[in-house]
Amino acid sequence: HQILVIHGPNLNMLGTREPEIYGSLTLDQINQSLVDCARQEQAILSTFQSNSEGELVTRIQQARTDGTTWLIVNAAAYTHTSVAIRDALAAVAKPFVEVHLSNVHQREDFRHHSYLSDVAKGVIVGLGAWGYEAALRYILQQPVS
Ligand code: DQA
Repeated sequence: HQILVIHGPNLNMLGTREPEIYGSLTLDQINQSLVDCARQEQAILSTFQSNSEGELVTRIQQARTDGTTWLIVNAAAYTHTSVAIRDALAAVAKPFVEVHLSNVHQREDFRHHSYLSDVAKGVIVGLGAWGYEAALRYILQQPVS
């Protein structure tokens, strides 16, 4: 497998950003443990974070031809607003797991709707950084198609 992890806006601030909601691990720490976990299973994992919707769309589009087999996507606040990111994911037609660190359903109403969930293979919310690892372990069990 070749897995691309997409992190949306403000996730570069993990570790210091509302740690009671998002945990105390930094994005680098989360990414490093995902890379290590993938490597142990002979998979390749790369990560991309941007605060810009357009950059996220462009990187997702590249996944159509760069060998990516699956994506793990935490679009952060764009989850709740972005038709463009949804369309990009639909256009590349690669399966993806949607992940949120926090349980968005326990939070404000505006976080209850996701533009991505109905096109995702699955959705993991509320398990903190472990949600990314759970998504990765699931993907590593899937046949490469
Ligand atoms: C988030 C939840 C979103 O509602 C929020 O805007 C984020 C992070 C999460 O991982 O819990 O930035 O995607």
